[in-house]
Order: sequence, then structure tokens, then C-alpha cells
Amino acid sequence: MNTSIFACLPIVLTGLLAQATHAAPVPADTFKSGKQVYNEVCFACHKTGVAHAPKFGNKTDWAPLIEEGQDILTAHAWVGVRAMPAKGGKPDLKLTEFARAVAYMVSESGGNWKDPDADMMHKIRKEAEKRLEKSIKEMQAMKKELHRLNEEDD
Ligand code: HEC
Repeated sequence: MNTSIFACLPIVLTGLLAQATHAAPVPADTFKSGKQVYNEVCFACHKTGVAHAPKFGNKTDWAPLIEEGQDILTAHAWVGVRAMPAKGGKPDLKLTEFARAVAYMVSESGGNWKDPDADMMHKIRKEAEKRLEKSIKEMQAMKKELHRLNEEDD
């Protein structure tokens, strides 16, 4: 019996496998880690607590925020709240990366939040939209008020 065909079977299989994995690559996660985003962006204020930003690693600062829940806190911070600039002041920062940075800061400050999965990202987007709608309404009311003042001026 000719055994050479069996001898080269592993090589053939390895070749096929390599081709298969090459043909269908698993999409790479190109998002930065929360730690990376924190170190590049958020640390500027959150390391020392600029303008009363909750300090990185300070459990007392973070405890009441953690209670709000991951979707709410992430969405509100992303939209911007009081002295916290929208998107951490970095307009090209992706929402997923921002959300990971929040999870990282929380996890280093007494909480235990994971990188948000698809379901959590969905909730964050919904809450952010709600928050934005509220701001838009408030701004439209201000615009109306201005129009009224302008008319009274005439
Ligand atoms: C220019 C300074 C600055 C930068 C940069 C910044 N923050 Fe903040 N952040 C603040 C301040 C100030 C507050 C406190 C806001 C307040 O309560 O008045 C805050 C609050 C927060 C809160 C709590 C929000 C709430 O609802 O009270 C989260 C979460 C947060 N920041 C996440 C981040 C993340 C994530 C980044 C980086 C991507 C970041 N911040 C970058 C200044 C900053």
C-alpha cells in the first residue's frame, strides 16, 4: 500500500485550512482599548480632577456615577454634561471608544464594567439620542425667545 498519500495529507489539510482562514478573515476589532483612549484623551482632566472632573481611581467620586448605570452615564458624558465636554473634547473619537474609556475608568475606580457589547451599545445610543432631543428642544425654546425679543424690538 502506498502510504505517501497519507503522509502528505496533513500538509494538504494545513494548506486548505490556511486558504480557508485567508478567504474568510474574522473582522478585526479596530477600536482602541478603553485604557488607550483614557491615556490619550480623558486623563488630561480626570487624572487630577480638572474643574471637578471625577478623579481616576477615586471610589468616592465615582460611586454615585456608577449607580446611574453604564448606558445612562456613558450616554450623558458622551453628549456632554456641565463642564464635561461632548466626546471628551475630541470630535473624531468613536462612540465605542468613548464607551470603553468610561468602562475602563469605572473599573479602575471601584466598579466593574466591561467593554460594552452590542446590546449595551444599542442602549447607549438610545439614551444619547433622548438626551440630545432634550437639548435640541431647550435650544429651540431659546431661539423662539430670541425671535420674540426681536419682534418686540421693532
Ligand atoms: C477638558 C476636560 C475633560 C476631558 C478631556 C474629559 N472629561 Fe470627563 N468630565 C470632565 C468634568 C469637568 C466632569 C464633571 C462634570 C460635572 O459634573 O460638572 C466630567 C465628567 C465625566 C463623567 C461623569 C458624567 C456625569 O454624568 O456626571 C464621565 C463618565 C466622563 N467625564 C468621562 C470622560 C471620558 C470617557 C473622557 C475621555 C474620552 C473624558 N471624560 C474626558 C472633564 C473632562
